[in-house]
Amino acid sequence: MSKPVVKVAVTGAAGQIGYSLLFRLASGEVFGKDTQVQLQLLELPAAMKAAEGTAMEIDDCGFPSLAGITISDTAEQAFDGINWALFVGSKPRGPGMERNDLIRDNGPIFVSQGKALSRAAKDVRIVTVGNPCNTNALIAQHNCRDVSPTRFTAMTMLDENRAKAQLAKKAGCNVGDINLAIWGNHSSTMFPDFENGSINGKKITDTIKDRAWLEGDFMKTVQLRGAAIIAARGKSSAASAASACIDHIWRLMHPTPAGKYFSCAVASDGNSYGVPAGLIFSFPTRSLGNGNYEVVKDLPLSDYSKKKIEETTKELLTEREVVKDLLIK
Ligand code: NAD
Ligand code: LMR
Repeated sequence: MSKPVVKVAVTGAAGQIGYSLLFRLASGEVFGKDTQVQLQLLELPAAMKAAEGTAMEIDDCGFPSLAGITISDTAEQAFDGINWALFVGSKPRGPGMERNDLIRDNGPIFVSQGKALSRAAKDVRIVTVGNPCNTNALIAQHNCRDVSPTRFTAMTMLDENRAKAQLAKKAGCNVGDINLAIWGNHSSTMFPDFENGSINGKKITDTIKDRAWLEGDFMKTVQLRGAAIIAARGKSSAASAASACIDHIWRLMHPTPAGKYFSCAVASDGNSYGVPAGLIFSFPTRSLGNGNYEVVKDLPLSDYSKKKIEETTKELLTEREVVKDLLIK
């Protein structure tokens, strides 16, 4: 019997993240060995040759779960009939920049790709990685009239993974023992919620009693990790970003265990934690196991947490204002 095929478009396929992400998608680790993955790569004309080289290498891995690879410099062609759109292709920031300094350069990419997606695919889920990813997801969503706004997500899984790695070191536990979510923007205002998070079912703050560290070094390390990697490597994170993208899709495709959640930036419904409707905001999220999700309701928020959530909300509202000409009403 033939296996089901999942069609995955990856934009910016010849870039750094593409080089780590594509192999893992093709290997079967996300969609399972019983599903075939059709990769539909999108690149700029100047990078088509490099994308072909990456595709040759993927072929050479001999992954039984790979159905095939197409490469195109036309968005509508690359998005034809896809089930997943992984929006990676865009400029990365350099040293000394904030991610939202990229907004006027990268924003227009998501106008044209949102429109192309609307024409080319219907049953599709979108993961936006290109920065500033929350606001780029917002732009794509506004320009993609024929796909439900709930299908658009932006990636804060890398921030969750970074936070868990720091907490695990401090507490002497395994990252898998930790439940924690990021609130807000994938930026230096994000809030890794150590007040609601847990380690082996116990509040993080009951295990790590050093509140000054949680509010200080921990928060700063997570919020500024992207910049620290750029300073050290001379280039932004790539393998860890690809790994987080794999985790993001995997989490959406598998039911979230009872009492757990994960970080995912999704359109606010306007009734959750005071976040204005429509902003693409990272919330503690649970998956129903089929790609659909729900935002966790009614988590208690201290005054400290509320202030952090307000700060990151304010920043996203400013970003929305800056790109308002790119948003279709
Ligand atoms: P890169 O420069 O190595 O690769 C980007 C690729 O995108 C290039 O090959 C380029 O040709 C291509 N590209 C540019 N415009 C395109 C378009 N309109 N259509 C198709 N392809 C296009 O960059 P990278 O390191 O792979 O990073 C990509 C993006 O991901 C950056 O914006 C970066 O800041 C972001 N990022 C986000 C996270 C996150 O956690 N959300 C993590 C790491 C990086
Ligand atoms: C990251 O968090 O590593 C990425 O968003 C890249 C960056 O510019 O920080």
